[in-house]
Amino acid sequence: MPSFPELRLRRLRKSETLRSLVRETRVDVSDLVYPLFIIEGRGIKKQIDSMPGIYQLSVDKLAREAAELTGLKIPAVLLFGVVSDKDETGTAAYNPRGVVQQAIRAIKKAAPGMLVITDICLCEYTSHGHCGLIEDGDVDNDKTLRLLAKMSLSHSDAGADMVAPSDMMDGRVRAIRQELDGNGFSHIPILAYAAKYASAFYGPFREAAGSAPRFGNRKSYQMDPPNAREALREIEQDIEEGADIVMVKPALSYLDVIRRVRDTFNYPLAAYNVSGEYAMVKAAARQGWLDEKRVVLEILTSIKRAGADIIISYHAKEAAEWLGESV
Ligand code: PBG
Repeated sequence: MPSFPELRLRRLRKSETLRSLVRETRVDVSDLVYPLFIIEGRGIKKQIDSMPGIYQLSVDKLAREAAELTGLKIPAVLLFGVVSDKDETGTAAYNPRGVVQQAIRAIKKAAPGMLVITDICLCEYTSHGHCGLIEDGDVDNDKTLRLLAKMSLSHSDAGADMVAPSDMMDGRVRAIRQELDGNGFSHIPILAYAAKYASAFYGPFREAAGSAPRFGNRKSYQMDPPNAREALREIEQDIEEGADIVMVKPALSYLDVIRRVRDTFNYPLAAYNVSGEYAMVKAAARQGWLDEKRVVLEILTSIKRAGADIIISYHAKEAAEWLGESV
């Protein structure tokens, strides 16, 4: 092995051309998924206070949105519904004329090539704001499965390209797979939010989606942040149940988990750069405390370097523009 002074690691950092030649990780716009919040009503484009630049959009605004995303070459969207008529069982989640079902049709019509992924979870649709059915004051895992399967079928019926269960119930991937396979949708992949932590970084999202729990918290179903080995078991379980793509969420405080999953499983891996991670960057950038462009590109690169193939990010539009610029 050569050593200093023959060895000089700085040699390959001298110019951008050289740095680019030996660069190990590249983020491409084709890695990115952009989340959209779809609200009932018409003519609505309402900015979320804690997420500047992110809006709740009504269905009639989606053709334009889809055209903009296509223009930026963003390949995929992840849809969330924002509804007012909530009930104990989240009926609006599997209504064939529900807001997400309408949104799927509108996006597919305006941009047939756009990959439409839908979030499968009851929290945006239940009056109590929990991700499953409540029995005796607690979330009933097994009774929830049927509703998640029903919701997945309803989205597939409306034309979704992929479903993404985020509820963290045990057995939901199998329940969804069986429901889809039994109804002519064996070609629809499942992106499982497999290792999803009970994180404080979801705060702004709950404002955006109106999905904060009315009582208690999500710690009995989402993972305990200190656990990494358990994340591997969660991933393994979802793969065994039939997941096609697995996800770690959030991204930044869990880069070690992303790396361990990448080293352990040969499945496509997604990471969710969540609402709180976006809000922190936006807030600091607004104060002039950070260079937003450089920070965002560094963050996305770190998520990829940790091992993610797919990044779900609220910064996707800005990143698409920045990635398109020559450095
Ligand atoms: C629904 C869901 C949540 C997020 C994605 N799907 C919120 C939660 O579990 O409380 C969070 C996304 C984000 O913070 O950007 N269960």
